[in-house]
This record gives sequence, C-alpha cells and structure tokens, in this order.
Amino acid sequence: MKPLVITIDGPAGAGKTTVSRILADRLGYKYVDTGALYRGVAFELQARGLSPEDDKGLENLCADLDIKLVRNDKGVCLLSADRDITGQVRTPEITMLASAVSARPVVRAYLLTLQRKMGREKKVVFEGRDMGTVVFPNADVKFFLDASLKKRAFRRYLEFASKVSQTLEEVENDMKRRDENDASRAIAPLKPAKDAIIMDSTEMTVENVVERMLSCVENVS
Ligand code: DC
Repeated sequence: MKPLVITIDGPAGAGKTTVSRILADRLGYKYVDTGALYRGVAFELQARGLSPEDDKGLENLCADLDIKLVRNDKGVCLLSADRDITGQVRTPEITMLASAVSARPVVRAYLLTLQRKMGREKKVVFEGRDMGTVVFPNADVKFFLDASLKKRAFRRYLEFASKVSQTLEEVENDMKRRDENDASRAIAPLKPAKDAIIMDSTEMTVENVVERMLSCVENVS
C-alpha cells in the first residue's frame, strides 16, 4: 500500500481522537492530534497572562514557541519547550481558550507550517477541524466525523466526569458555544472538505467507524 496522508475532521466529541488512534495503529501510521497543538498555544498564552485578542502579544508568543508532539513510553505527549504539558491542557478554561486562539490568523499560520512539516513523510492520520480543507487539501483520504450534540456532550461528560466538575448541561453548553466559534470563524472554519467522506457516529460503535474507515482507505490505496 502506498504511504498516505489521512485526515479526520469534525466537531468536538464526535470520536475523532479514539478512532484516529486506532486507525493509525491498524495501519502502522503516526497519529497527530492537532487540537492538542492549539491547546498548547492556549496554555502558554494563559501562562504569560496574554489575551487572545492581543495580536502583537500572540505574534511574539508564536515566534517564541516550541511545541511538539512526541511518542514515549506514556503514549503521545504534548511538549512545550521540552516540558510535558499533556495533563494540563484538558481543563474547561484551556478548552475555551484554545477555541479562541484558533480564530487568530497568526496562530493558524504558525501551526499550519508546523503541521505541514509533520505530514512530509506521509503515513500519518491527522485529526482536527481544517485538516482536509486547508492544511492538507490534497490528502489521500479525508473523513468528516460528526454526531448529534447530545451524544457528543454525553461522551465528553463521561470521559471527564472524574476529573472536571461540570454538569452534563454545562458540558453541552460549552460544546455548543465552541462548535459555533469553530464553525463561524473567518479563517479555516470547521466544515467538511468537498471530497470528504462524511460519517455520523451517533449510532455507531468505535469498531464500526474504524472498520468503515479502513475499507475506504483500502479502496483508494
Ligand atoms: O480537538 P480539540 O477539542 O482538542 O481542539 C481544541 C480547539 O482547537 C478547537 O476548539 C478548535 C481548535 N482546532 C482548530 O481550530 N483546528 C484544528 N485543526 C484543531 C483544533
């Protein structure tokens, strides 16, 4: 099979992370969670007390950033200046801040370059919001994974119930607000690429989604 770039876009909680990881493992590919990169920028922004509206501050921040995803014995870790921040970027505050910084042109330009470098050698599954539309418009296989808001919020609530003290209603409201931000921003909004395979995971198991994706990948390769 020739080496491919596979993209999986979609809203929060649609199951992208879980299926991207399994799909990458099954194919022997690398897996890149691009949302983690936006979360890394948000984390550093917060640490320096900057606002996402401060374009000059963001420009200086991006010029200074060294964000990486590395695989080690703990799995894939998010490093900022070689410090492991994986466990600190999943709070509700960083989640909303990541959505806010992701609308800023300087941040998108910085991460566009970084993500394209990561795709040079192919054999990668990229998960995000604009992977198939903007970052890799020529990707070999593009998926857009969706699910109902209720189902997505419920999954996210179960996933973080022991770590984050938010009610199901709060999770759903945050998710709705974030989807609206991500889909309405001027640059690289969340939307399916014209040639994306659209899948709705509301009533599907993880295994079903992965199997369908694998058969689509086999068809193109
Ligand atoms: O996938 P996630 O929830 O970790 O992403 C966090 C935020 O990052 C999300 O609200 C939108 C932004 N994002 C983006 O704009 N483009 C991407 N390719 C990935 C994430």
